[in-house]
Amino acid sequence: SLKVVIIGGGSSYTPEIIEGIIRRHDTFPVSEIVLVDIEAGKEKLEIIGNLALRMVEKAKKSINLSWTLDRKEALQHADFVSTQIRVGGLAAREKDERIPLSHGFIGQETNGAGGIFKAFRTIPVLLELANDVHEICPDAWIINFTNPAGIVTEALLKHSPHQKVIGVCNIPFNMRHSTAEILNVRPEDVKIEFIGMNHFVFGKKVYVNGEDQTQEVLTKLANEGLDYSPANIVNLGWSKTFIEATGLLSNPYHQYYFQTKDVLDKDVKAFEENGTRAEVVQQLETSLFDLYKNPELNEKPKELESRGGAFYSDVACSLMNSLYNDSEDIQTVNTMNNGAIPDLPDHAVIEVNSVITKHGPRPISSGPLPDTVKGIIYQMKAFEELVIRASITGNYHDAYTAMVMNPLIADERGSKVLLDELLEAHNNYLPQF
Ligand code: G6P
Ligand code: MN
Repeated sequence: SLKVVIIGGGSSYTPEIIEGIIRRHDTFPVSEIVLVDIEAGKEKLEIIGNLALRMVEKAKKSINLSWTLDRKEALQHADFVSTQIRVGGLAAREKDERIPLSHGFIGQETNGAGGIFKAFRTIPVLLELANDVHEICPDAWIINFTNPAGIVTEALLKHSPHQKVIGVCNIPFNMRHSTAEILNVRPEDVKIEFIGMNHFVFGKKVYVNGEDQTQEVLTKLANEGLDYSPANIVNLGWSKTFIEATGLLSNPYHQYYFQTKDVLDKDVKAFEENGTRAEVVQQLETSLFDLYKNPELNEKPKELESRGGAFYSDVACSLMNSLYNDSEDIQTVNTMNNGAIPDLPDHAVIEVNSVITKHGPRPISSGPLPDTVKGIIYQMKAFEELVIRASITGNYHDAYTAMVMNPLIADERGSKVLLDELLEAHNNYLPQF
């Protein structure tokens, strides 16, 4: 038997992962799926559960699919536990985005003050889950998609007894696919050497069937201003000079750090027109759930691609498949550094190409960080450590230092204003403070 438990099963993203499991059923023969959610998500869980049942039925797979609010019961005999939760829901995300913006700072769910508070809310909840997993199904892998995915994964590896935890994100996947498009080749023929952290990852080298094509990609990006971004980010595009001088593939989230003022202007305008991304997503969700309710629907609808995390299931399911089959293929995951980037701590979680074996990911080293970006990567990793510390201690000064050392805040008085307002706004979800 092979059992997958999905924590946050009522998420509108769930049809993704169900489809991913169905498609891989020959090599990854899941026999049981349990969707788990909390009381507040009960109604959505029911709708998703029924849709998932119709999907399994249509695919004619013998998968026993059920849903429950009883997490401990669901974890019995689990082999894989995937996590896709949002503590406080989209209402909390809205505050993460709106409050910083109202004080002239970037308001984003995984970057800056918003990302810090998403970590504060999420880490205690997932630590509790990891403890349950360790007790109830100690051999299970936790596949963490919950944001901020890199920080959360590092917090679990540092502070929970359960060490079988891997973080995933669709950004490296998207970058590989758009690079393939740019070069007009198949995505499976493209390899990108990734360095850095989740939502702060750079592509250092691009290989097509083993041949170095980095320059070709950079030249095309520099000259044609091609767009790379998922649905949640409207990119302004990089200047030719930035691309040529860094010689790296940036990811869409880098815009917050390297185009801060322009992005702030753009985000303020977007906010005035449509509200925050959280509000846009709320509307998207309403129409997605309307679709999901239709008893005729028995597959993942195209409309799900309007969410930024589209295709994440390809990442999560390929990973589970390779862990299960001991495939030794290469995938980009969030895992413990262990020397792969020699200038970052061994126990730091990095986003890196890794060989996937049944014992977990073995990160592949690509040498020291490039001089151009090593400074900001050191700073971001040190900042992430501060966030994790504050998430655990609930100490005001720990939280404050995490805020002020974040390059998107970096303002001593502003940090206090934001910290106080966000602590108050999220009071219900911050038991450690
Ligand atoms: C990206 C990120 C995900 C994030 C998503 C947000 O793809 O990799 O980590 O959750 O976008 O998308 P949304 O539709 O919720 O704004
Ligand atoms: Mn992500």
